[in-house]
Formats: sequence, C-alpha cells, structure tokens
Amino acid sequence: MKIFSRLFSSKKNLTIEELRKSTVPKHVAVIMDGNGRWASRHGLPRLAGHREGVKPLKRIVRLCSDLGIKYLTAYSFSSENWQRPKNEVSGLMQLFFETVVAELEELNKNGVRIVLIGNRNLIPQRVLKKFEDAEIITKNNNNVVLNIAFSYGSRQEILEAVKKACINITNKEIDINDIDESYFSKLLFTKNCPDPDLLIRTSGEFRISNFLLWQIAYSELYFTKTLWPDFSDAEFLKAIQDYQYRNRRFGKT
Ligand code: FPP
Repeated sequence: MKIFSRLFSSKKNLTIEELRKSTVPKHVAVIMDGNGRWASRHGLPRLAGHREGVKPLKRIVRLCSDLGIKYLTAYSFSSENWQRPKNEVSGLMQLFFETVVAELEELNKNGVRIVLIGNRNLIPQRVLKKFEDAEIITKNNNNVVLNIAFSYGSRQEILEAVKKACINITNKEIDINDIDESYFSKLLFTKNCPDPDLLIRTSGEFRISNFLLWQIAYSELYFTKTLWPDFSDAEFLKAIQDYQYRNRRFGKT
C-alpha cells in the first residue's frame, strides 16, 4: 500500500509551497558529479562542464532559501581532485576565484553565509583569500549557510579531529572517557551545523567518495543519473519530495 501511494504521489510534482507544508530537511549535501561527461557529450572541454555546473548550484542555493533549508554543503573539490591534470586543476581554481567575485554580492544580499570546509593549506593563496574575504563579509548572514567543501576529504578531516582530541587529552583539557560523539563532532569542519538529512549525488554513480563520512551516518541518500549541469530545479524539488516520503527511524522501530 505504501509503495502504491508512493508511486501514485510521485506522479504529481509538488510546488515549493506544498513542500513547505511538510518537513523539509535542515541540511542538504550534494555531490556535484558529471561535469566532465556533460562536457564531452557536448563536444566541449571539461572545464566548460565545470563552468556550466556553477548554474545549478546557484539555483539550488536560491531554492534552499525558498524552501527554508538552512544548510547546503556542496562538494566542490576533493582532496583527491588535486591529482587531476594540471590544466584542469588550474582552470578550476580560476573558476572558483571568478565565481566568488561574480556571485558574492548577490549571495550576501540574499542572506547566504559562505563557509569553506577543507584543507586550506593546499589552496592557492589568491583563491583562498577570495573565499576567506567572502566568509568574513557574509559571517552574520543566517538565511542559508553554504558550506563549500573545497580541498575536502572526510578521512583527512576525521584524522585531523583524532589528532586534535589527542592533543586535548595530552594537555588535560579533556578526559579520554569524556570524548563522545558530540565532542568529536565539534572537532570537525562541520562543527557548527547539524548532520545532513539528505545527501544527493548526480551522474549515476553510487558511492560517497570520501564526503562527510562521519556526518552522513543517518542521512537519506538520493542518487540520480542526471549529470550535474543538467540537474534542474524540478529535480531538486523531486529529491526533497522523495525525502519527505522516507521513514526515518534512526535505528529505532
Ligand atoms: C565533479 O565532476 C565536479 C567537480 C570536481 C567540480 C565541481 C565544481 C563546480 C560545480 C563549481 C562550483 C563552484 C563554486 C564556486 C563552489 P567530474 O569532473 O568528476 O565529472 P565526470 O565524473 O563526468 O568526469
């Protein structure tokens, strides 16, 4: 019966107003995958796919604001992405730089707070400075928090947190027996936000790729074949609608 009602209701796409009547996720995380394939399908260089990929991100930030979703975390560049060909990496750095320059004013006007999560030591100074300026300029905004996962790897994040915990134990700031999940979560880059309720991955891949491994323990997962540059507003709303049908039990009955 549940399956039937699900199939039936999936025929009608709900509007933003209708979706707002039910529980919307507080935090959505997205793995924006498929830019390279989108580019090659259009006979374009890979970088054109990344450039096109900025558009759905902009639209989704706006939709989060309209829906009342308070946190959006976008996997923009992983720790492993540094190993891509030099020209793709430098093209992406230039794209991040230009995007912050082009979008900051509007994001700020719309109450979006930008937070960079990842290993800052590896990011070129010029690009890092733009992001850090954006963090300062938007730090009092509270409409939507946009976490940009950049030079981000979850295993690395967890390892760094373990090291911090060890230092705190050595310095007698905490007793080893007092280290619990809540304490540990506060040592991660995501210390100021709740765990994601929903994780979306585009492009037909069914993996997590070193993204928010600790934080997604109880997240709902949504996979779609759509390549990131083609990820439309309608499909984002569909993912939210799908989330609203999920029965979240957090291990309970
Ligand atoms: C993965 O697709 C995508 C990336 C590594 C880059 C994503 C970046 C953006 C969408 C720009 C965001 C901009 C800002 C300022 C946050 P892929 O290259 O792995 O695609 P493929 O699997 O088809 O090759």
